Formats: sequence, C-alpha cells, structure tokens
Amino acid sequence: MFFAGCSADSGTENDQGLKLKDVYSIPIGAAVAAGEYGWDSFDTYGDALMGEFDSLVAENCMKAGVIQYSEGNFSWTAPDRLVGYAAEHGMQVRGHALVWHTQAAGWMFTDTGTAAEKKEFSRSRMQTHITTVVNRYEDDIYCWDVVNEAISDSGGYRTDSPWYLAYGDASYIQNAFDYAYAADPDCKLYYNDYNVCVPSKRSDIVSMIEDLDLIGSHHLTGIGIQAHWNLNWPSIAEIQTTIDTFHDMGLEVQITELDIDCYNGSTSLTVNPYSNYEEALATRYGEIFDCLRQNAEEGKITAITLWGVADDHTWLDHMIGGEYISSVTRKNYPLLFDADHNKKQAYFEVWDF
Ligand code: XIL
Repeated sequence: MFFAGCSADSGTENDQGLKLKDVYSIPIGAAVAAGEYGWDSFDTYGDALMGEFDSLVAENCMKAGVIQYSEGNFSWTAPDRLVGYAAEHGMQVRGHALVWHTQAAGWMFTDTGTAAEKKEFSRSRMQTHITTVVNRYEDDIYCWDVVNEAISDSGGYRTDSPWYLAYGDASYIQNAFDYAYAADPDCKLYYNDYNVCVPSKRSDIVSMIEDLDLIGSHHLTGIGIQAHWNLNWPSIAEIQTTIDTFHDMGLEVQITELDIDCYNGSTSLTVNPYSNYEEALATRYGEIFDCLRQNAEEGKITAITLWGVADDHTWLDHMIGGEYISSVTRKNYPLLFDADHNKKQAYFEVWDF
C-alpha cells in the first residue's frame, strides 16, 4: 500500500525527508548515465537526489552497440558501475535494451552471403550477445527490455530494422526472448515501445504478441510503455485503455521512460523559459500520477521509471518534433527536478493526493 501519511500537504511531507520512492508500493526509477557519453549521473546528482529513486535503468550503457562495441569487446565499466551503485543503495535495476534497431552493433550484420547466411550471421551474434550480457547481470538485473521498438509507427513490423532485414521476418523477436530466457529463466522479459497509446500501434503490438505467440511460447512477461508524452497527449483515458489492454492479456505493465515534452512535439527551435510551462507541467504530472497511482494500487502496473533525473540532462533537449538531432539544443523541462536539481512544482503534484 501507499505511504499512509501522504496528504495534500505535500510540501510538509517532503520536509519530513520522504522521497519519491516512499509514495508508491512499486519501484520508482530513473534512467542514468554511468560515465558513458561524458555524463555521470551519480557524480552529478549525489546520493541525496539519487535516493529519491529505488530503481535504475541505463540510459545508454547497456545498449548493444555501446556495451559490445565490437565483436567480443565489451565495455563493462559503466554498466558495472551502475549495478554496483544500485546494489550498494538497495535499488533495483531494469536492463535496457538487448535488441533494438537504434544504437545497435553494426558488426552484428553482414551484407555478404545468401539470405540464410546473413540471417545465421546475425542470429548467432545475437545469441552470444544476449547470453553474455544477461548472464553477467543475472544477480543484478530483475527485468530486461529484450526487444525495443519492433513495431513501426506507420503500421506492422519495423521492416527497416537491421534485425528484421537480417532475418527477413519478425522471428528475430522470438529468438531474442528465447535466448534471454535461456540465459536467466528467473528474469522478467519485456517488450518495450513508444506511441503505445496510439490505438493502431497498440493493436499492432497486440497482434505481434499473438502472432508470434510471445506469451505462450517465448516467455514474454510484460510490456514497457515508454511514456514519452507531452502536455496534452495522450489523454488519461487512452493511457488507461493501454494499461488495461495489456493487463487483460495477463501481462505485467511498466511505465519505462516517462518524460513530458513541454513543446508538445513542435518543430520550432525557439527556446521558451521554464516559467512558461511550470503550471501546465505540474497539472499534467498531477493527472498522470493520479492515474498511475491508481493502477499501481490495483496491481496493473509494477514500476514507473522516469527518463532522467533532472532537467540538466534530458535527451528531449535534442528531440525536435519527434526527431533526435544531436547538433541542435532546444532546452526542455520534462522531469521532476529542475536543471539546478531543485524540486519542481510538478514534483509536489506527484505527492498531492
Ligand atoms: C535515448 C537516450 O536518452 C539518448 O541519450 C540517446 O542518444 C538516444 O536514446 N527510446 C528508448 C531509449 O528506448 O533508449 C532512448 O534513449 C529514448 C527513446
């Protein structure tokens, strides 16, 4: 159950030293960088701010192209630091992500050979990758995003994924779950995606689960709803329908990458100050967390993870109207702590019930 002392007087509760993780019966997590790409969340935020959370996920350092940057060469430093920090501070760790079309390891694919040879080239490398990484963190990671974003926004499978192209079909998804299960049968295995609240994409994900028999034959435990949302979208009703859809299939559901784009998907490069968004963001977080808290209480969602800790480090500074452009920076304000690591009004709305 939730912390009994929480009340509308949320500021007072926090003055008593309570943390975000105290609000819910389920883990509240954050995506962190452990030194990769020049950012270290632990050094930057310190134990007090990190202690708001009781779960971590790697923002980048466990992705295939980062963790096994060339064949047989693994970059364990950052992921080891992440799981070590979590263990030391009593936090859970979600694994992210074993098979994805982006930040994939290019060397896992080949242009030469017959279709069967290309598939086998990639299949064997996927098996080795998943086995090695999942085995190493068997005692540290309680769930893995096994496959990330396999469904296209325009309908059906993402057929331009290097994995789909290597296999010629979607059976790579079945292999990925099978290899993860073989490496650690006790690990919870997730399919993770964005735009899951778009009805057509949601139903494509349902079709994928059914057509590939992911629950019955391939050990799928749950669905990760990334939750890269904005001030207006999706509606709370659509969020609820999405959670119910997968819960009713017998799956666990987690909110895995929550952040709120204050520019609502706009492509404008004009930077607006946080004061323009403060109230709307607080209201939005309030309504979202009312919904999520209810679902946690009913056992329909099992974790909430924010995609970052504070506004000084958010990928949304480079997301311009749905496109990630690393060379462009437009300051965004998607999280619960501001760029100076102070609690935002939105933070207090999370407590306000
Ligand atoms: C993002 C990271 O935050 C960025 O640093 C990186 O450059 C690109 O990837 N969906 C996912 C995450 O599953 O892995 C992505 O993370 C955001 C979208």
